[in-house]
Amino acid sequence: MAVIAVVGGQWGDEGKGKIVDQLAGSAQVVIRAHGGDNAGHTVVNAQGKFALHLVPAGIFNPQALCIIGAGVALNPASLLQELDVLHQRGVSTRNLLISERAHLVMPYHLILDAAEERRRGAQSIGTTRRGIGPTYVDKSSRIGLRAGDLLDPQGFRERVRRVVEQKNALLHALYGLEPLDAERIAGESLELAQPLLPHIQAVEAVIHEALDSGKTILMEGANGTLLDLDHGTYPYVTTSSPTVAGMCLGAGIGPRHITHALGVFKAYCTRVGAGPMPTELFDEVGEALRREGHEFGTTTGRPRRCGWFDAVASRHSMRVNGFDSVALTRLDILSSVEALRICVAYELDGARVEHMPASAEALARCRPVYEAVEGWSTPLTGLRSWRHLPVQAQRYVRRIETLLGAPVGLIGVGENRDETIFTDRSLADLCALAVS
Ligand code: IMP
Repeated sequence: MAVIAVVGGQWGDEGKGKIVDQLAGSAQVVIRAHGGDNAGHTVVNAQGKFALHLVPAGIFNPQALCIIGAGVALNPASLLQELDVLHQRGVSTRNLLISERAHLVMPYHLILDAAEERRRGAQSIGTTRRGIGPTYVDKSSRIGLRAGDLLDPQGFRERVRRVVEQKNALLHALYGLEPLDAERIAGESLELAQPLLPHIQAVEAVIHEALDSGKTILMEGANGTLLDLDHGTYPYVTTSSPTVAGMCLGAGIGPRHITHALGVFKAYCTRVGAGPMPTELFDEVGEALRREGHEFGTTTGRPRRCGWFDAVASRHSMRVNGFDSVALTRLDILSSVEALRICVAYELDGARVEHMPASAEALARCRPVYEAVEGWSTPLTGLRSWRHLPVQAQRYVRRIETLLGAPVGLIGVGENRDETIFTDRSLADLCALAVS
């Protein structure tokens, strides 16, 4: 039995999609357990290039059961669009199950997300405007609508009526917006969600059965640890818990079941949206990383902020998650940069600090303390084995291993499935490829 959790160690967009797609080939169950369509996974495989937002990447493995867990914020319209694209391209979604406990992103959540971002003005968080924050707010306020509610149209209408009454008061008083029509929202939501109804189930029972029978389960993380509501760069964070613990919660399984926690880190840093990022580069190196790495959001298309690898922030993620090993992605992109740097500490108000401050204001005052690392100028994309990597690239990886205190088991050298170097046989075996 193996239960592997794949979690982003930075601010999302670490390239989890490719890793999950690789591991999903040998998984029997793939679970997406938190976040919503704010996330975007790019997957490039034999069937082409896909941008997934809610559907687990295991969908390309016809043998795997793909589960959207209780912790997910589910926008039915956006899931249906995603399913349509998959169907048009010949991918079966027969094996997709949705937890009846997953909270629904309702049309008023989208309106509230945009209205609140406008109201924040210069202090805006730069959300994806997918209504994720307001959905989790309603979940905590215990007024959320859940996927299972769609199976009881009468009860659904009644709940929507009560919630919209409250939202209308808010829309009017705080944002000066027109009231919404509860009947219409309920009716349209019920009609739209019809094709999803056969997928909605008590998936927790299915997950527990899979655990009991020793199946290989892949937990697919979204977003990234530094966006975690508790442990990220608050308040510039998302509203779920994109950590190993958050995935256990969202899937409804105990932490002792996780057999391997794999942290995915990009070989440099990127961030979309607002909030502090100590190693952000505003010069031509940052431009080169964005250009070479096609660093534009999968969900919003926004240019990503780019910077050097931040070992302080990454160590924080290591601790929060307890990763067993690391997948270091996009090492090939660094071939475009001559002299590399790694941030090994911060300088905060004249003192050296080696931990990430909790306050966003303090983090914004942190100046990175860099270590220079020799670069390599040869392309890495064609390489498939550790021993063929330039010695400078090997040193870069080893330095990151030392700074993070965990082995790098997998190195990404291109966007395609096979553009990967495995340094850990167990991961390679799971991906059914050889270590060389
Ligand atoms: P929200 O999750 O849409 O509320 O956005 C909150 C913050 O998290 C914003 O800065 C977003 O840009 C960021 N964010 C949310 N999901 C992702 C992701 O999957 N990748 C990168 N950034 C994300």
